[in-house]
Amino acid sequence: MEKQRLIMLLALISAACVSILCNSGLTEAIESPHYKIVLLESDFHVRLYSKSVWISAAVDDLSFEKATLCGYARLFAYTQGANLNSSWLPPTVPVVTALLPGAGPLNSSAYSVRLYLPSKFQAELPSPFPELDLKPYIWPIRCVAVRRFYGFATNKSVVKEAGRLARSLSKSNITTGDRGYSVAQYSPPLQIIGRVNEVWVDVTLDEIDGCGTESETAGASAD
Ligand SMILES: *[C@@H]1O[C@H](CO)[C@@H](O)[C@H](O)[C@H]1NC(C)=O
Ligand SMILES: *[C@@H]1O[C@H](CO)[C@@H](O)[C@H](O)[C@H]1NC(C)=O
Ligand SMILES: *[C@@H]1O[C@H](CO)[C@@H](O)[C@H](O)[C@H]1NC(C)=O
Ligand SMILES: *[C@@H]1O[C@H](CO)[C@@H](O)[C@H](O)[C@H]1NC(C)=O
Repeated sequence: MEKQRLIMLLALISAACVSILCNSGLTEAIESPHYKIVLLESDFHVRLYSKSVWISAAVDDLSFEKATLCGYARLFAYTQGANLNSSWLPPTVPVVTALLPGAGPLNSSAYSVRLYLPSKFQAELPSPFPELDLKPYIWPIRCVAVRRFYGFATNKSVVKEAGRLARSLSKSNITTGDRGYSVAQYSPPLQIIGRVNEVWVDVTLDEIDGCGTESETAGASAD
């Protein structure tokens, strides 16, 4: 659609400005969701995340890269004022692409691209323009195994990195949850050098408070 393309273009242009701003030393001000590290291994670590509110864009596309870009463009437009309050929302990191079970890379055919809301908007978020088709997403308390990787997150690299994380976890006898894998990207879309990403999967660790089997069911949430 013509309009969708326009929104995407505008978002990309603004993203370029954000990336320029970030490079001039404003990075420290950028918020991210709170967590604490509960397990540290050589090739992965486990984080316990607090409950928080995110904004989420559902995308049907086989390509991880295309889905992330289209979803992010809608989220970005929302933060730049495409909401009923005409509010500007300060940038947050990371952008998280959740791979929903299906037939694409990592057996995914659909994605949810999600952005953490700044603390100022956690209690009450501005309603998105309806045509952006965004939904709030309640991120429950959860335990996430994390593997960091660098460069552009591509169709190929996300499958490879998720496979590596899966192998590390199975070697450590750690059970994964059924929400599937997510990819967290910390760098603006147009940044070329020094890109940082992570692959995430929910895990169950009965010996750690908040990471046990009950917290998984208690934290279950639709989106
Ligand atoms: C990503 O994968 C999908 C199918 O899984 C494919 O259709 C698409 O062309 C790929 N995109 C790129 C940029 O490789
Ligand atoms: C994808 O699904 C196929 C068959 O359903 C299965 O054999 C394969 O292991 C799955 N791949 C991943 C990465 O989950
Ligand atoms: C949006 O605007 C309405 C009406 O002016 C106001 O009641 C509400 O608090 C605002 N929401 C946010 C998140 O600023
Ligand atoms: C994982 O479980 C297997 C079989 O129960 C056991 O032999 C192995 O030592 C365990 N590995 C770790 C790292 O706990």
